[in-house]
Amino acid sequence: IVVRAETSVASPINPNIQKENPKVVDTVTTSSVEKQVAYCRCWRSGTFPKCNGAHVAWNKETGDNVGPLLIKKDD
Ligand code: FES
Repeated sequence: IVVRAETSVASPINPNIQKENPKVVDTVTTSSVEKQVAYCRCWRSGTFPKCNGAHVAWNKETGDNVGPLLIKKDD
């Protein structure tokens, strides 16, 4: 059973990535993508900014539905 607290209070979504930076920004050029790359949008990846699948446990624990940004090279 997943119990979610409903709240109207805004809270940070980034638990611990680069907290010393006022804004975390990552830049990717499409020429640097060989075939496909997945970038984290849940802020829980151990390989941030790349997805390492941590969103699966997060979604299971919280009932959330987050997933990575996929960047694919054009054929
Ligand atoms: Fe964050 Fe996959 S680990 S989206």
